[in-house]
Amino acid sequence: MPSLVVIGAQWGDEGKGKVVDYLTSNADCVVRFQGGNNAGHTLVIDGVTTKLHLVPSGILRENTKCYIGAGVVIDAGVLLQELAGLRKSGVNVSPSRLVIDANAHLILSYHSAIDKAREEAKGVNKIGTTGRGIGPAYEDRASRSGVRLAELFALEDLKPKVLDNVNERNEYLSAVLKSSVRVDFKEVWSSIERAAEALCPHVGNVSLLVHEALKRGERVVFEGAQGALLDQSFGTFPYVTSSHTISGAALTGTGVGPGAIDYVVGVAKAYCTRVGSGPFPTELLDTLGDAIREKGGEYGTTTGRPRRCGWFDCVAMRRAIRLNGANSLVITKLDVLSGIEKIRVCIGYSLDGKKIEDIPALAGEYAKVVPVYIELDGWKENLSGITKWHQLPANARLYLSTLSEILACPISVVSVGAERASTLFSSGAEFLKSFVSGERP
Ligand code: GDP
Ligand code: IMO
Ligand code: MG
Repeated sequence: MPSLVVIGAQWGDEGKGKVVDYLTSNADCVVRFQGGNNAGHTLVIDGVTTKLHLVPSGILRENTKCYIGAGVVIDAGVLLQELAGLRKSGVNVSPSRLVIDANAHLILSYHSAIDKAREEAKGVNKIGTTGRGIGPAYEDRASRSGVRLAELFALEDLKPKVLDNVNERNEYLSAVLKSSVRVDFKEVWSSIERAAEALCPHVGNVSLLVHEALKRGERVVFEGAQGALLDQSFGTFPYVTSSHTISGAALTGTGVGPGAIDYVVGVAKAYCTRVGSGPFPTELLDTLGDAIREKGGEYGTTTGRPRRCGWFDCVAMRRAIRLNGANSLVITKLDVLSGIEKIRVCIGYSLDGKKIEDIPALAGEYAKVVPVYIELDGWKENLSGITKWHQLPANARLYLSTLSEILACPISVVSVGAERASTLFSSGAEFLKSFVSGERP
């Protein structure tokens, strides 16, 4: 102890990678606990950009250990490429620093083939997945046909299972999905052999390592992927991902009990974005939406797809705060709103003329929701270079305090640029300040 969960509070891409990197200056370990390489977490340090899909965002802090928990699904090819890139930049990614839980599952090429074929079959009704095989890999975990990293130590025992899987998935691809794609067993098997050779030295017991770290009083950061509104149960179903993305998943995806979490921080942009399909009540389908996309560089870190942009949504955020038990929020990308004359904030929804308090369970109903807005005066100043709360323009501070008041949740940190240094604490961020400084909170 102490420990901290950093979680996305919108539809992903809130800046979790940057926030995790910022908060880990004195952390002992960072744990990824769910999702897979659908995630794309960006770190910018002294002008150098690092994009991470599977490796935890503590990897650029040389004294921090990085763990990938049992709840993560891993495309070994993507992970090996990521490790090679980091190694080339001089980052230590040795097995003493990066450990993957033996119970984590592999994403194999038949998972991504099924993911893509299903999306194609759905046509205009597609979910807009990243095509990385995330859903099919989690399905195999649930149906107990998935391949865990532990199995890479006994390849001969694994072979017949993979052969069965490939045959069955090929049948499904052709007979059900009417896809012409066929998965070649030999290719799948050689990818497994490569994974075994390179990853076995990294395989360990992350649950135990984190348990022991907490017992020694070390600082642990749990790094979420995606965002609360993409949670497989509580997100905007069916337009969600296939894992739990909320803070509770830090426990089940790592293998530690509820006492392991001291503090939960929700990360949210000062506006809202979404990639893929699904309702988005505050979406801006006009030139302002386009301007925010360009200024904010709102293109997917993983797929390069343009992100849909819209106003900050307090109804959705209240839900995210509740689902995660967030102690405070980090607001990122405040700099992107500079120069907008009037900034809107969604404070309520109406559905069929009636006020509603939360996101409806049916996507069809959510698509009909009408947002209720308040409007605040914007600011013109460029925020880059600001490192102290009081240096923010008065209207920017008013924007933040208005959000905090509506949400009844403190804002502990504000980010005004992609760089590690473009980050500032609010006056009430005692826990996080001491976490970063290395003191005991
Ligand atoms: P994540 O998936 O939540 O880690 O977020 P992504 O990395 O996918 O997307 C966030 C993008 O915004 C990245 O390109 C970051 O470098 C960038 N970013 C993060 N914080 C800020 C900020 O405060 N201002 C600006 N302009 N960019 C930021
Ligand atoms: P990070 O961690 C934003 C979205 C996809 C799609 C839906 C389902 O970078 O915030 P999937 O491939 O998971 O089955 O796709 O979820 N999605 C994300 N959107 N950021 C992410 O991760 C995402 N990971 C998945 O766009 O709408
Ligand atoms: Mg991302």
